[in-house]
Amino acid sequence: MTGTARFAAFGVLGTFRAFSACGRPGGADMLVRLLYASRAAAGLAPEDLTAILRTSRAHNAANGITGVLCHSEGIFLQVLEGGRAAVNTLYNRIVADRRHHGAELVLYEEIGERRFAGWAMGQVALARLNPSLLLKYSATATLDPFAVSGAVSMALFEELVATASVACQG
Ligand SMILES: Cc1cc2nc3c(=O)[nH]c(=O)nc-3n(C[C@H](O)[C@H](O)[C@H](O)COP(=O)(O)O)c2cc1C
Repeated sequence: MTGTARFAAFGVLGTFRAFSACGRPGGADMLVRLLYASRAAAGLAPEDLTAILRTSRAHNAANGITGVLCHSEGIFLQVLEGGRAAVNTLYNRIVADRRHHGAELVLYEEIGERRFAGWAMGQVALARLNPSLLLKYSATATLDPFAVSGAVSMALFEELVATASVACQG
């Protein structure tokens, strides 16, 4: 069966639904959303963050994964969306990365559609945000995903996207 014919067959069966940010098929397995928080390694430099984002965008686009990475005052908060196998494999790799530690899974859910489909890996530098946005969702104007529920962290992400606070270079 040709690639086109296979694609058409999936369409007829109604089982093909995961696409990458680039519009390429990202896998026929079910979609999931994963949100985790972690603490940056001591001495993490801006170049390290740039390298993480560069790798993420290349790898994620090729594997049908989309999402957003927040970094603020030594804390990472990242949302990943994509096929279940791809997201789970990537999460295991990220957790083992020595550029951060103490990763805590704060939300994992099966989803019908993506919320961050436009980003192979968007970036949020929370230091530049209006503190009132953080105060809306937590007791202080600092990012502390370890102290709030996964639902609250997701609400913050959604607002960041709605207020166009997500940057994506390259
Ligand atoms: C906070 C953080 C977030 C990361 N996010 C991603 C990501 O979204 N996609 C990705 O491919 N790698 C991400 N990485 C990098 C991976 O841990 C890993 O270094 C990269 O995928 C290359 O893996 P490899 O050396 O086994 O090929 C992240 C690393 C950190 C510390």
